[in-house]
Amino acid sequence: MGTNNYNNQNRNRPVNNGQRSPQGYQGQVRRRPAQYKKKKHNVFARLMVVVLCFLMMVALCVALVVGVVSFAKNNQSGGFKPTEQTTEKVDKDTEDGTTANGVTTDEVTTSPEPEPEIIPEFKADLSAYEMYMNPQGDQRDAYLIVVNSNNPLSADYVPPDLVAVASTRKDGRATQKLREYAAKALEALMLEADACGMIRKNTPSGFPLSVMSAYRDYAYQKYLFYDVYLVQEMNKGLSREDAEKKVATYSNRPGTSEHQAGLCVDMHTLPSANQSFKNQPEAEWLAENCYKFGFILRYPEDKMEETGGIMYEPWHFRYVGRYHATKMHELDMCLEEYVEYLNSNG
Ligand code: DAL
Ligand code: ZN
Repeated sequence: MGTNNYNNQNRNRPVNNGQRSPQGYQGQVRRRPAQYKKKKHNVFARLMVVVLCFLMMVALCVALVVGVVSFAKNNQSGGFKPTEQTTEKVDKDTEDGTTANGVTTDEVTTSPEPEPEIIPEFKADLSAYEMYMNPQGDQRDAYLIVVNSNNPLSADYVPPDLVAVASTRKDGRATQKLREYAAKALEALMLEADACGMIRKNTPSGFPLSVMSAYRDYAYQKYLFYDVYLVQEMNKGLSREDAEKKVATYSNRPGTSEHQAGLCVDMHTLPSANQSFKNQPEAEWLAENCYKFGFILRYPEDKMEETGGIMYEPWHFRYVGRYHATKMHELDMCLEEYVEYLNSNG
């Protein structure tokens, strides 16, 4: 059946080898031009296919490159973060990581990205003091010095940058001195204390919170220990040996007091230093807030053993800079404990 149909269809067609003429099936067909046109069309179509394929490949490559670049960018901006901590060496005062008085604090574990710094909120405008309260770079660790009976200063040591302390009590005493960073940070502390109502006039001494003692040289510390306190204790009836033991609970021997380092102050509102200062609102405010200005309460109530036998001194504040003061505040550690902690956890 199929063969027959085929034959029937072909029987009615003009003889032109199955090619259509421009006039359809009517009229005479010119064989040569028709063949020539067919060949030309075939070549053109093939050329177009090749060009299209080429363009598609180029588009594919461009899309691939754009995709790779965008993936890499996403990873850089936090798409993937390492989870492991790294430990890096931090150079301190000397090449072997030992500070001037032999305290080793050479290794500190840091996160790949530094923790964001939290600047405390102050009532006063302390922006000009920020660099002193919170020293940066190689200054950050420059004030983390331990001075005690195990870490003495030489008799001729004098701090390099002593300046006047504006908040020295105005009772006729000589203007006290501190190292520059400590003095400026103390100025900031006093401004904020004032803004918080902590510079009162109606105090037990009649003087507002003020500095009684700051830098003391070796000779003056020697005079205080042996010629003032020791004599006072012996006058109470103690033997020289017992009197010396007693004095050593509230005064350091010459060369072992951080007052010689020019980094600490005795400040209070009493006529003279006394543990009852802890009940004054200023004492409470200082203990709670001093770290924000870079200070620590150097001899806390419950750390007598750790500080080498020095009893509670709610008036003695030591400058170390905010970074370390904040850590000590958070860890509830005194200076000796903190330096030991850094050395064993570095
Ligand atoms: N009052 C402190 C302990 C000193 O003399 O250094
Ligand atoms: Zn003191």
